[in-house]
Amino acid sequence: MSSKELIVTAGAMVAEHKGLLAMDESNPTCNKRFARLGIPQTEEARRAYRELILTTPGLGECISGVILYDETIRQQKKDGTSFVKVITDAGIIPGIKVDTGAKDMAGHPAEKITEGLDGLRDRLAEYFQMGARFAKWRAVITIADGIPSRGCIEANAHALARYAALCQEAGMVPVVEPEVLMDGGHTLDRCYDVTEEVLQTVFSQLYIQRVMLEGMILKPNMVLPGLICPTQETVDEVADATVGCLLRAVPAAVCGIVFLSGGQSGELASARLNAMNVRFKSRLPWALAFSFARAIQQPALEIWHGEEANVPAAQQALYHRTKCNRAARRGEYNATVERTRT
Ligand code: 13P
Repeated sequence: MSSKELIVTAGAMVAEHKGLLAMDESNPTCNKRFARLGIPQTEEARRAYRELILTTPGLGECISGVILYDETIRQQKKDGTSFVKVITDAGIIPGIKVDTGAKDMAGHPAEKITEGLDGLRDRLAEYFQMGARFAKWRAVITIADGIPSRGCIEANAHALARYAALCQEAGMVPVVEPEVLMDGGHTLDRCYDVTEEVLQTVFSQLYIQRVMLEGMILKPNMVLPGLICPTQETVDEVADATVGCLLRAVPAAVCGIVFLSGGQSGELASARLNAMNVRFKSRLPWALAFSFARAIQQPALEIWHGEEANVPAAQQALYHRTKCNRAARRGEYNATVERTRT
């Protein structure tokens, strides 16, 4: 696989004001979300839910790529058509989560290290054969008293860089996701400082591991106050802090930036992305897009509730959120767009 093909794929992932749909929840995470709504936690329920998402009419209008989980990339529609075929027929690029989860980090209480490098070269080759053209690896960084530690940041950045190098070797675009979590009472300023340090460390490691920045996508958190911080900044303040931090820490050669939603509501995630694109339109060296899971899926999941009869209404809700986020990329999202259902 040549560098050129990687650059073409990365470019297609953020082209035409589209973005990514993350539907790569691991089985335990997907089951937890089902359990909260009383949906059975079975392989068939997970398959039916993913079929609902992937057969949403018009999904490819606003979504350029979907991130799948190992179970999902091997599944089919009820009529036997493979999910990968459904995705590519819709003009969407299939992607795959390849880390094996964030585990407790030895010697670092309350911190996590993401695992999955062992055997990764072989797993990437298999996923490429199955049609995946990009991959995702998520590191999680927790803010609390005395953490994150330097050891946690460096170990996770190193793993992200080794994963990214293996992806490019396999012809797959790495989505590099260092997530600074929203949980806690920290301020926006503290999130800014931690996010900047994490990104600086990640890009230093990507350089050392010879990752081609033009053929990768960064998936960061927005710079936000903690969920229970008493001071919650405005949408514009969040946009300014987030883009300010990224401009300092992310090289201009990076193909695109796609945000995770991290537990924000769908509306707030769209509004903040929109503000960034409005306020910094002419000053951005990279595309600023989205790769949301909860901020796109949550309303649809709640409507579906595991009932076949609710599929069309759930698909309409999913389509609506994808449209709102495409509008946010253009800087055209507002209350009217939010209210208008098509
Ligand atoms: P959320 O948008 O729900 O944070 O999920 C994005 C994701 O892919 C997490 O790894």
